[in-house]
Amino acid sequence: MAGKIPSSFIDSLMARIDIVDVIDNRVPLTRKGREFQACCPFHEEKTPSFTVSPAKQFYHCFGCGAHGTAIGFLMEYANLGFVEAIEELAETAGMEVPREQGGGGQKKDESAGQLLGLVDQASNWFQQQLRSHPDARKAIAYLKGRGLDGRICAHFGVGFAPDSWDGLLNELGDSEIRRDQLLKAGLVIRKDNSDSKSGNRDMYDRFRGRVIFPIEDHRGRVVAFGGRVFGEGEPKYLNSPETALFHKGAELYGLHRARRAIGSENRSVVVEGYMDVVSLAQFGVENSVATLGTATTRTHLQRLFRLAPEIVFCFDGDRAGRDAAWKAMQVALPEMQDGRQLGFLFLPDGEDPDSIVRNEGGDAFKARVNDAMSLDQFMFDTLLAQVDMTRMDGKARLMSMAQPLVGQLPEGTLREMMRSKLSSLSGLSAEQMGSVPGKQSAPRLRRRTQPLEGALSPLALAIAMLLQNPSLAQTIERPEMVEQLTLKGADHFRSMLSQISASPDMNTARLLEYFRESGVHEYLQKLASYETSIDEEVLERHFNDTLATIVSQQDEQRRLALLEKSREQELEGAEKEELLELLKGRSQTMVES
Ligand code: UTP
Ligand code: MN
Repeated sequence: MAGKIPSSFIDSLMARIDIVDVIDNRVPLTRKGREFQACCPFHEEKTPSFTVSPAKQFYHCFGCGAHGTAIGFLMEYANLGFVEAIEELAETAGMEVPREQGGGGQKKDESAGQLLGLVDQASNWFQQQLRSHPDARKAIAYLKGRGLDGRICAHFGVGFAPDSWDGLLNELGDSEIRRDQLLKAGLVIRKDNSDSKSGNRDMYDRFRGRVIFPIEDHRGRVVAFGGRVFGEGEPKYLNSPETALFHKGAELYGLHRARRAIGSENRSVVVEGYMDVVSLAQFGVENSVATLGTATTRTHLQRLFRLAPEIVFCFDGDRAGRDAAWKAMQVALPEMQDGRQLGFLFLPDGEDPDSIVRNEGGDAFKARVNDAMSLDQFMFDTLLAQVDMTRMDGKARLMSMAQPLVGQLPEGTLREMMRSKLSSLSGLSAEQMGSVPGKQSAPRLRRRTQPLEGALSPLALAIAMLLQNPSLAQTIERPEMVEQLTLKGADHFRSMLSQISASPDMNTARLLEYFRESGVHEYLQKLASYETSIDEEVLERHFNDTLATIVSQQDEQRRLALLEKSREQELEGAEKEELLELLKGRSQTMVES
């Protein structure tokens, strides 16, 4: 998070990756001529109108208007931020994301970098306290009592926060800036009615008298902490608040450490508590992660599905556990592309993964995971328990509850199979079911971008042509015309030309990425997907003619303006000459020659 990503890096990343791979890994594509197609992941459709161009490195849906580069695709499809999308692509390309240092606009990122450093120091301090603080004996005894050995505690970086108001504050809060950062990192709390100039005494440590579990983000950087009481006290677990570094809805406890095991086991296991993750790992179950005291979010699921195609949720068998499982299922439905699998493991009353694995061992727990309930089983069992299927209105009720859920599934075999299961349960044929309400709750067709209306201005057309065919830059017959362009947008056109001349294998997507932060990005994306319907053989001719047209229109406007002015006042020398030039028809001769 430190510093801005240099645009040169983004460009070389764009040059390295292939949008076809990026999309095909998530939405399987089929070749159609020079392009690739699929049913659009962004709206509901039966015939494919989602098109990916390898030449332009750009996707476009003719149905809903969605379009963009590989970066844009990941942002939309996987719900990632710009930086996250870059990191994701860089990871697959085996590239390290560099960061620029300093610079005015990057203050925020820079301090996020410093925050990370501080949180890391805090984590080290907590661990050191567990080893050396006189009161740590009680914490160690507690951990031992729960069956955790020193090796596993060290592996998870478990630490100890002494029962003091200012242990960490004194250790790390040695300047105003650092105290402010401790506050921003959620490690200290400001006293209610204190002015900010009273030094250390107006703040106190958030974590006191607790066993500390560092929470790492998906890249393994400590971003927050969870602290458990080991004696008396409330609450049982205390978490860092949401900070610039820590978003509960995005992070999963243990994800970074579980990454490899999730890959080799081909599945992840989601549990509720930190202690569950730590103790499962001690017993050899290393592919588990925990939500951080929140419900499962779509971001959580997307992170996990990127690592393996199967997720097994582990819940208490009680009412609350079933409710939580139902919520998780609802969040997961739209993510269930063919090939992905969900499991639901309900534990006996009063047990959690920690107690089970301790009683039964790692293999027995893995066996339970293997036998987890499937998505369809869980969904239909739960629904069937709520209706009386011997009655017609009971069946109708089942349909009205099930159809909207099934409609949430992406198009594919799983959805068809769920549909046919519903059809056999209800005794309705597929066509009859089609007319049952509930279907309309499937994602509605959204037109996400307005198409460009009507014909483009000549300059917009020239930009569209150049964006779509960067090699046109080398065919410009009269470079001086480019210099003469004064219309709004001409600078963008020129800067595209200079990007292309710096890098002759330039493509549409790379050009677009240069403009991501420019304010014209969205407009340029539309131009990139604008259907110019110009034959390839005449493209060069048309491009050059368009440039000539722009210049002549510009000249015409200028000529009229000068004539107008000359009627009201005497023109200056230079203006007179210019008008004479214009009256001779500079651009006219150009088009003809
Ligand atoms: P549980 O209450 O199920 O605790 O909370 P646990 O995991 O079994 O922990 P032990 O075995 O008693 O040590 C599950 C999760 O809910 C959140 C924490 O993330 C915890 O891991 N939680 C729970 C809190 O945030 N605050 C609390 O006071 C309790
Ligand atoms: Mn527990």
